[in-house]
Amino acid sequence: MRGFSLESFPYSSFGALLRADAHKVPTDIDPIELESLVSNYGAVLLRGIPVHLEGFETLTRLFGTPVQAHINLHLERQHHTRQALSRASVGLDGFTRTVNAGSSAINPHSESYYSPFCPDLVWFLCKQPPNSFGRTGLCDGVEVLAHLPPAIRGQYEKLEMVNHSIFDAAIFCALSNIDSIETSFARIRETRRLDLSWMMHRDGRFEFTYRAPMIRKTRFGGARAFANNALGGSGASLDEFKADGRPFRRSHLEKYGVTPSMADAGLETAERLMAWISWERGDLLVLDNTRIMHAREPFLGGREILVRMSASRTGN
Ligand SMILES: [Fe+2]
Repeated sequence: MRGFSLESFPYSSFGALLRADAHKVPTDIDPIELESLVSNYGAVLLRGIPVHLEGFETLTRLFGTPVQAHINLHLERQHHTRQALSRASVGLDGFTRTVNAGSSAINPHSESYYSPFCPDLVWFLCKQPPNSFGRTGLCDGVEVLAHLPPAIRGQYEKLEMVNHSIFDAAIFCALSNIDSIETSFARIRETRRLDLSWMMHRDGRFEFTYRAPMIRKTRFGGARAFANNALGGSGASLDEFKADGRPFRRSHLEKYGVTPSMADAGLETAERLMAWISWERGDLLVLDNTRIMHAREPFLGGREILVRMSASRTGN
């Protein structure tokens, strides 16, 4: 891309740092070239362009349909639909959100892996770097799978995640900006060939069951990867992190059949292979969410990162 220089992430075998020369603006980014970089490297950090909210939304829209993330599906109908979003909406089109609240670490995960609407691409914009700590960790699920102890890898390969949910269809439609939930589910089942079944109840509730393998193929390139939410959600506080130097908490997801030894081996492997991003204001990070897991280090004050998610127009 003219006016940009390409470097690889330090100490990792994936990821690209695309540094912009002076005077570049977000519209100078060639979306086809950027998508090709994401496809090859899994993660691209764009630095040097002061990306603002409008540019962030415009750029991400070029890559496919925005996906609404983190809808709390278990609210009752009388609640205002805005309350069903577990993160604050900050954008102009209703699809830009703040990242998870709090300042604790977050274990490595693929965004919304448990959802049939799991996004292909996840986009982060750094509005304000943290005062200290608060890096984002990235690990390549293709590498994690290859480096798992063989016995543990075999156990994960047999496992599937099952998501059975029942919720108010009207709230889901309003938040996802769709007319019919059944049409939307039918389309995603057909285009993504997902193991997905559902039933519409007479009282307006919608019930679905979604099954996904813990080890699945990446959207770009079709390699098998460990990119899921098997490693638990919450990590250490800053004090705990300072005390023993480990950002993540060991936890296992019994409901998915992840045993403590599987969770420990997965987390150890992911931690060992992790590349850490120290944020700068205006940084834009894009991830192939079906390949790269992301994590958060605990932090002290100030950190403001926005997130958008999208379903790609291309890929497998
Ligand atoms: Fe996340």
